[in-house]
Order: sequence, then C-alpha cells, then structure tokens
Amino acid sequence: MTKDFTHSVLILILSTLAVASFSLLVWVVPNVLRTADIAKGSLAVPLTPIELAGRDIYISEGCHVCHTQMVRPLEPEIKRNGRPNQESDDIYEFPNLWGSKRTGPDLTNLARKYSDQWHVLHLINPRQVVPTSIMPSYPWLFEQSLSGNTIADKMATLRALGVPYTDQEIAEARLQVKGKTKGEALIRYLQSLGRDTAQELSP
Ligand code: HEC
Repeated sequence: MTKDFTHSVLILILSTLAVASFSLLVWVVPNVLRTADIAKGSLAVPLTPIELAGRDIYISEGCHVCHTQMVRPLEPEIKRNGRPNQESDDIYEFPNLWGSKRTGPDLTNLARKYSDQWHVLHLINPRQVVPTSIMPSYPWLFEQSLSGNTIADKMATLRALGVPYTDQEIAEARLQVKGKTKGEALIRYLQSLGRDTAQELSP
C-alpha cells in the first residue's frame, strides 16, 4: 500500500490546527468585535451580591440540569415561556445557564410569577404546592447559612470580565450576604430571572 498523507501525524496536526483557527476566525473573532455593540442595546442589569450568591447555589444544586433558561423564538415556546432570549440578555452571564434539558419548565421569565413564600414551600417540598411534582426537595437550603467570605472576590472577577460593579458595591457585598440562608439567596436569584426584560414583556 502506498503511503499517503493520512499516515503523517504532522499533517494531521497541521490540518487540525488550520481547521480550528479557521473556526476561531469565522465564529469567535467577529463576535468578540461586536461585543460593545451588543452591550449597548442590552436591558440586562448586573445581579446584586445576594442574587449572585443565589446563582451559585442554583449551579451547585444542579438546578440547570433540569431547567433551561433559553426560550427559543418559536411560537409554541413563546406561548409557554414568554419573551424569547436575545443575545444581549446574557452580557453579564458567566457562565451562561441556558441548560439543555427540560425535565422542569424553562425559568427565563420566572420573576414575579410566584411569591417568595411559594418558593420557600416549593423548595422545601415541591409536593406541598404542586402535588404531582417530581422535582427533588431541598430542605437543607433553609438550614445552612452563607458566610459571604467569597462574594467580594467573585464580584471582582466578574468585574474583570466586564460586569460594571463599583468599588463600593464590592466592599459592601459581604455584609449583604453574611448570615442569609442558602434558600433566601436562591429565591432572590429566582425572583431576578427576567426582571430586567419584564418591561418589554408587558404589552
Ligand atoms: C430532577 C429535575 C429537577 C431538578 C434537579 C430541579 N427541578 Fe425545579 N422543577 C422540576 C419539575 C419537573 C418541575 C415542574 C413541577 C413543579 O412545579 O414542581 C419544576 C418546577 C420548578 C419551578 C416552578 C416553575 C414554574 O414556572 O412553575 C421552579 C421555580 C423550580 N422548579 C426551581 C428549581 C430550582 C431552584 C432547583 C434547584 C435547587 C430545581 N428547580 C431543581 C424538576 C427539577
């Protein structure tokens, strides 16, 4: 059998690099250049320290495994979940929590759908408010409290990524989070979902 180029590791590496750089050039670079324009038209507001702490609980408890935060611009989805996502909605989301599986409903436009008290009951035992629910219970969220020790560092990191937190907001963050239960923080985060775009939602 004659030796052709598929037998050369060097050619394989070089061609992989060529394809990867081409994708980077076509998909990534143009979007990085557009970032400032996207941010200009955005309705997104940065999360407060307590909401940010709640977002971390949302991630650590794996809520994003069963819930999406991505309404696609398709009629049945809009009817069920409200306003579809725009790319400018996510300028402060690191990492994004679009999710990929919907065991439970999409939560993009959740803010103000339920009261805080409803969320407390639902998180402690979903069956108390939705008898047929298969969502797990999270009673410990209301037994464990937060120290707030890491929140300032998190906000500083997010600021480095472009979230406009001020020095004062970062300095005061720990006191806003300290002593709150994980559940309280999570509910603050849930009540923030879609809040910034709510004006656009109302007819
Ligand atoms: C195993 C999958 C699963 C996980 C994990 C899960 N959920 Fe759910 N969730 C569901 C299902 C199913 C429903 C629909 C029934 C209900 O309302 O309880 C639901 C409903 C909800 C609702 C009501 C949404 C609406 O529009 O009515 C909220 C809010 C919610 N979940 C938040 C959370 C949070 C916060 C977490 C993480 C602490 C979480 N879920 C984890 C499956 C899940």
